[in-house]
Amino acid sequence: MERTLTIVKPDSVANNVAGEVLSYFERAGLRVVAAKMVWLTKRDAEAFYYVHKGKPFYDSLCDFMSGGPCVVAVLEGANAIARVREIMGATDPAKAAAGTIRNKLGTSIQENAVHGSDSAASAEFEIGFFFSRLEIMQTERKG
Ligand code: CMP
Repeated sequence: MERTLTIVKPDSVANNVAGEVLSYFERAGLRVVAAKMVWLTKRDAEAFYYVHKGKPFYDSLCDFMSGGPCVVAVLEGANAIARVREIMGATDPAKAAAGTIRNKLGTSIQENAVHGSDSAASAEFEIGFFFSRLEIMQTERKG
């Protein structure tokens, strides 16, 4: 079992398709084990995307990500990190394969509907960025 973080980005929430985005993952057998709606400040977005600091799109990305509420969730399942990335499709919606979330719901390389962690190390950082251990459900309650 593996866990990964997804963000239903502000464009998806504004377009009223947050549930649709999460249902792509659920239909693929991944389980939502934590979820909440948050409105990031620009500083929050800068901290979350610190690995992209210095890139030409960083400032605009952080404006976009703090421009409205988003839904953050932890997804659990076998090979969750790779599977979520497959279900999302390529970063640029114009290059995302048919049947993927970004192909259907993304409108630009920036406003691409959804985010998913790109490695085990990123997943650990990104899950911890939004959720405490107590906020992440176990499939079976222990004690
Ligand atoms: P995400 O998977 O959240 O990771 C970084 C984000 O930066 C990406 O999705 C896009 O929303 C945004 N972005 C904007 N421009 C680019 C670009 N040229 N290359 C990669 N990501 C970009």
